[in-house]
Amino acid sequence: MKKLFVTGGAGFIGSAFVRLVLAEIPGCEVVNFDALTYAGNLDNLEGVDEGRHRFVRGDICDREAVLAALEEGTEAVVNFAAESHVDRSIASADEFLRTNILGTQVLLDAARSRSVRRFVQISTDEVMGSLPDDDDAYFTEASPFEPNSPYSASKAAAEHLCRAAHQTHGLDTVITRCGNNYGPRQFPEKFLPLIISNAMRGEPLPLYGDGRYTRDWIYVEDHCRAILMVLQKGRSGAAYNIGARNERRNLEVAEAVLGKLGKPLSLIRHVKDRPGHDRRYAIDPAKVESELGWRPRETWESGLEKTVRWYAENGVWVERTRSGAYRDYYERQYGAEKSLESEV
Ligand code: NAD
Ligand code: TYD
Repeated sequence: MKKLFVTGGAGFIGSAFVRLVLAEIPGCEVVNFDALTYAGNLDNLEGVDEGRHRFVRGDICDREAVLAALEEGTEAVVNFAAESHVDRSIASADEFLRTNILGTQVLLDAARSRSVRRFVQISTDEVMGSLPDDDDAYFTEASPFEPNSPYSASKAAAEHLCRAAHQTHGLDTVITRCGNNYGPRQFPEKFLPLIISNAMRGEPLPLYGDGRYTRDWIYVEDHCRAILMVLQKGRSGAAYNIGARNERRNLEVAEAVLGKLGKPLSLIRHVKDRPGHDRRYAIDPAKVESELGWRPRETWESGLEKTVRWYAENGVWVERTRSGAYRDYYERQYGAEKSLESEV
């Protein structure tokens, strides 16, 4: 692999993927195309090999900008760029439809016109909706689409557009669907970095509803290794579910974080629930395991240990991301909840 076009590479997972590619594929160059929305952070790319990494600030909905940055000879487009936070999509869906749907179509068209060999769409298990609690049902690649939030509906639409580009135009597309990622450099509006940074400051940990919602957690670098394998060896037109067989309830996650930081369980607060909150996500990763031989390297214990340590050792990053526009959002999201707080 000589040249990749990565979108959203200043975000949490995209920046981890850029780091992985530059570290593990000698000679591979990366064009990193990112609009730098509130979630894009150039601090996430500190220390990458600038000789093989070119950052271009641009919007994936801007056809001319994409075509200008996407050079002939590019082997693959890997599309991480997205509006990614469910709560924001509930507050306002417009940007989700624009970036996640229209932007994906612009990239598909551009990939075709530049004769890019492969298009990798980073999707989510959330397109498959919610599983029953305490059940042994899992999401497989054959599970029906039942998205429940504007975010997941927009990601489902993007998958359909990839399929259409494959079926109609013969574009080589592959799709990855993973669960909740955790690890360094995740914007602290998402649950795990939010509760880690709150716990470090001795502030309450807001848990939506009864806190017994289940997510299937995967360490970000394990996810990125799976994406790389799908990019290199995945079957054209296929989708791959990627999960580390690591289901945890939110309460259990909060207790683990407090335990690691030596903070009291009394910091846990139950706040008003998210509307349409998906109860449980659980991924069956048998296909990516058997077809591509992928396995996660981190256990939940080792991954959480690394993650908590990273946030503890990178206070400057945490403070910079928690300041400014993020504070306004934080107040809107949780300001009204103060009266609903109750101790566990
Ligand atoms: P993120 O919000 O941290 O980063 C998104 C990046 O996309 C940011 O750098 C942002 O600036 C960029 N971006 C947004 N709109 C853009 C636009 N119009 N043009 C160009 N760039 C734009 O997201 P993340 O958590 O790193 O997620 C990356 C991808 O993985 C997303 O597609 C998301 O749907 C998917 N995903 C994430 C998770 C998770 O747990 N975080 C789980 C499953 C799937
Ligand atoms: P989140 O990180 O937003 O990811 P997703 O909704 O895509 O799974 O949320 C993870 C889980 O944590 C989800 O069940 C919602 C819950 N949650 C809280 O309980 N409190 C919070 O403040 C946030 C942001 C999420």
